[in-house]
Amino acid sequence: MLIDIITIFPEVCKPYLDSSILGIAQEKGKLEIRLHNLRDYTLDKHRKVDDRPFGGGPGMILTAEPVFRAVEAIKRTADSGQRTTKVILLTPQGKTLNQKLAEKLSKRKHLILICGRYEGVDERVRESLVDEEISIGDYILSGGELAALVLTDSLARLLPGVLGHKDSNVRESFSNNLLEYPQYTRPADFRGLGVPQVLLSGDHKKIEEWRKHQAVKITKKKRPDLLRGP
Ligand code: ADE
Repeated sequence: MLIDIITIFPEVCKPYLDSSILGIAQEKGKLEIRLHNLRDYTLDKHRKVDDRPFGGGPGMILTAEPVFRAVEAIKRTADSGQRTTKVILLTPQGKTLNQKLAEKLSKRKHLILICGRYEGVDERVRESLVDEEISIGDYILSGGELAALVLTDSLARLLPGVLGHKDSNVRESFSNNLLEYPQYTRPADFRGLGVPQVLLSGDHKKIEEWRKHQAVKITKKKRPDLLRGP
């Protein structure tokens, strides 16, 4: 999978993208992430990416020109004959990200993520360039960068061969609309706090039953909305 991220803060995104699972996914060649500085696609010598809104009002709006130029340039380099590209704008106006949407997007070969900034993005970007708008929750961030990282992370975990065998269960459990069962590790007695006996029993069938029961119990208690389904 190829993910191109367009941002005015590539240096903020890079360390996270190179760490942990995302770093491993890239090292294994399962995922290629390319960061693009929006300012590299401006035409003026000040590399200006924003302007005041027509009609007045507070704040600055990302202008259409560099965003269009960036997406067009990326599409040209991305072997678009072979890849079907989806252009995504990260914005609080978008569809809220959940595991189901992540699973759907993880099957795409190429995504271009546009990180919004300031008070907004010129509406013509939405109208004529963007295929889908995605939000990571009902709150306002200062820009789309954190949302792009969240989305990218959620996708990388779903790519075949990225996670080890061990983790695939965890993934499945959320896909089944259940939260994860409680986990413990050594020592079995920590400051007098114990571990459920069944986990120390070595009886794998019983452990499996206990975990399923706990997952349902925890989901009922903490997120009953998940059990009701979409
Ligand atoms: N940009 C600002 N807030 C956002 C959010 N909640 N989700 C996605 N992009 C955003």
